Amino acid sequence: MDKRRRTFLSYATGLAAGVGVGEVTTASDQKHFPRYRHSVKTRELLSMFGLKYPILQAPAGGSTGPELAAAVCNAGAMGSIALTTASIETASERVKKLVSLTKGTFAVNYILSSPLSSEPKSLPAVLDAGAPVVQFSWGIPNERQAATIHAVGARFGVQVANREGARAALAAGADYLVCQGIEAGGHVQSTTPLFEVMEAVLAEVDQQPVFAAGGIADGTGIRRALEAGASGASLGTRFVATQESRAHLEYKKALLEARDGSQTALSVCFVDGWANATARSLRNDTFVRWEAAGCPTAGKRPGEGDVLATKPDGRPVLRYATLSPTNVLTGNGVADCALWAGMGVGLINELPSASDLVHRLWAECEAAASQS
Ligand SMILES: Cc1cc2nc3c(=O)[nH]c(=O)nc-3n(C[C@H](O)[C@H](O)[C@H](O)COP(=O)(O)O)c2cc1C
Repeated sequence: MDKRRRTFLSYATGLAAGVGVGEVTTASDQKHFPRYRHSVKTRELLSMFGLKYPILQAPAGGSTGPELAAAVCNAGAMGSIALTTASIETASERVKKLVSLTKGTFAVNYILSSPLSSEPKSLPAVLDAGAPVVQFSWGIPNERQAATIHAVGARFGVQVANREGARAALAAGADYLVCQGIEAGGHVQSTTPLFEVMEAVLAEVDQQPVFAAGGIADGTGIRRALEAGASGASLGTRFVATQESRAHLEYKKALLEARDGSQTALSVCFVDGWANATARSLRNDTFVRWEAAGCPTAGKRPGEGDVLATKPDGRPVLRYATLSPTNVLTGNGVADCALWAGMGVGLINELPSASDLVHRLWAECEAAASQS
């Protein structure tokens, strides 16, 4: 294990020259907008993880591989990779690759209460490979898992969706929280709009940083979240539509084509073993047919069993499969797979590199009119 992974280098000293942690930044048009200043909470977040920008690239299933996370980290934000379905060997290899690509702070992610993996079996291996941060969702890590992480000097965060979740995560020793609103893409724990749930979550927090997540896809959204009391913002769907993301091109194109959040729906349409886990997806043909049939339960859905694509090992991807399509799939039915998307999808109009996106998001955030 490389202990240097856990030093959480300051961006200014450890990664590159540029705006240092907590440095006062200015709005691009000072004639119209006041100078932007980091809040104390944001400064603490930047300092905790050695970041330049208070932006987290959210774990987003198979779309988030080491290339994307490293590019985000190297641009000064926090990257992440989702490891819920990865074998111990694959998870460890991905972390080693990421460590070789960046000195920045990244998170590895586990969904705790999905049938895909209720126990993060690769946790010791990824910590040994140098993962500096672990982020959980859909559950709270137990005492043993929390102790394993803290024992090696790593930190952990939990994505929560209400006040009780925040309380439980903090009681378990969470170093930071991600507060998810109902606008989020992918599996949605929340039943409440982001700014409402954030108020409740912030009321529980003492000094731990809170990232706001759900429907944020541009710098104005980040500014709004920061001014509402978040320390930083977590963006999932926006980073799926980048060059480095491993999402299938058809999926990325569908994100570009979606006009606004009304083209997404929160439903149990794409349930594949993970019963009653609501998720927000694009309203593609599979969804529209399912809705027209009266939203039937698994086993009675139209076209169930259709093969939409094929995995590299030859296994089929069936209609209603839970995992969003990645670039290793072949076949003509990818656009009918689960295309997870948050309500900010209408703000996504092109496929930038992750680095360009990070810098642009922050420039937009600084230039945005104050929302308060
Ligand atoms: C394609 C996709 C896959 C996702 N997979 C995961 C995951 O594996 N683990 C997890 O904790 N959250 C996952 N999420 C949810 C994100 O962590 C986050 O809550 C969400 O992306 C925020 O909303 P936004 O997409 O509107 O930015 C996923 C989201 C998307 C869009």
